[in-house]
Amino acid sequence: MRTPVSETDFQDLNLVKRGKVRDIYDLGDNLLMVATDRISAFDVVMPDPIPDKGMILTQISLYWFEIMKPIIENHVVSADVNEYPAVCRPYAETLYGRSMLVKKTNPLPIECVVRGYISGSGWKSYQESGSVCGIPLAPALKESDQLPEPIFTPSTKEELGAHDINIDFEETVKRIGHEHASRVRDLSLAIYKKGAEMARQKQIIIADTKFEFGLAGNDIILIDEVLTPDSSRFWPKKSYQPGGPQQSFDKQYVRDHLISINYNKQPPGPELPNDIIRNTRKKYLEALTQLTGDSHGLD
Ligand SMILES: Nc1ncnc2c1ncn2[C@@H]1O[C@H](COP(=O)(O)OP(=O)(O)OP(=O)(O)O)[C@@H](O)[C@H]1O
Ligand SMILES: [Mg+2]
Repeated sequence: MRTPVSETDFQDLNLVKRGKVRDIYDLGDNLLMVATDRISAFDVVMPDPIPDKGMILTQISLYWFEIMKPIIENHVVSADVNEYPAVCRPYAETLYGRSMLVKKTNPLPIECVVRGYISGSGWKSYQESGSVCGIPLAPALKESDQLPEPIFTPSTKEELGAHDINIDFEETVKRIGHEHASRVRDLSLAIYKKGAEMARQKQIIIADTKFEFGLAGNDIILIDEVLTPDSSRFWPKKSYQPGGPQQSFDKQYVRDHLISINYNKQPPGPELPNDIIRNTRKKYLEALTQLTGDSHGLD
């Protein structure tokens, strides 16, 4: 197993952002996105990394970016460290497999959420109002039920620490204009439908997911990460049982452990026992292998 990467600190590069999972460096026209092995649960980053998680997420995104190309162009310039600018060379070993050189875009300021199943904040909103983001749904849905058709339920993009707010289509139009709003709605639904169908054949339900789009000149392209267990709810098809919350594919071990020790969900997170780390890594790797048919030498 490789040494886990909790944080990068590349001295010769310009760090622009440290998210919960990614460290992002500015290389002029491009960005260097580095997926670390950090894991968050209940919105708190845990002190222990999950070895190889960043590689696994990067490989899953690359797989989908390629598959979705007939639907939408994406931001990937290269994921081959040898093709990166020379300033990145000193960090090649760390960057290998977990990074992407991407086109720097102007991200549209909304999160393009698609739901094929009713869960999470969608379920909460449905219980309160019978609708999600202004879209009325059939009465008497159970938690985790599949929807007759996937729905586009965008949200605002809030700064670190604040929760995103669900908005309806009208509000989306106000924020990004009618043309962009209908375009990203149609694109999001098309990408989700294709991905969910492929995942289903590999025994994984993608219940819902979030996409981001950016403007490269006048073109809208797909950015960030795509259909990963971090940006989506992955459920094992085998144990799917509507009428309550589902076991998540990947973070369930961590969440169950945190609940069992009565963790108060406030930072800092507690240290994770070795077997929780090992089992969580196994689940992420299972998602990668099941989806792409390739463990990328990580098993
Ligand atoms: N091609 C791109 N051009 C410009 N910005 C991008 C591009 N791809 C991704 N981003 C931005 O980079 C960030 C990705 O980093 P990361 O996923 O760690 O942060 P986050 O999702 O904002 O926050 P967190 O993961 O902590 O909730 C997002 O803010 C995303 O909008
Ligand atoms: Mg993110």
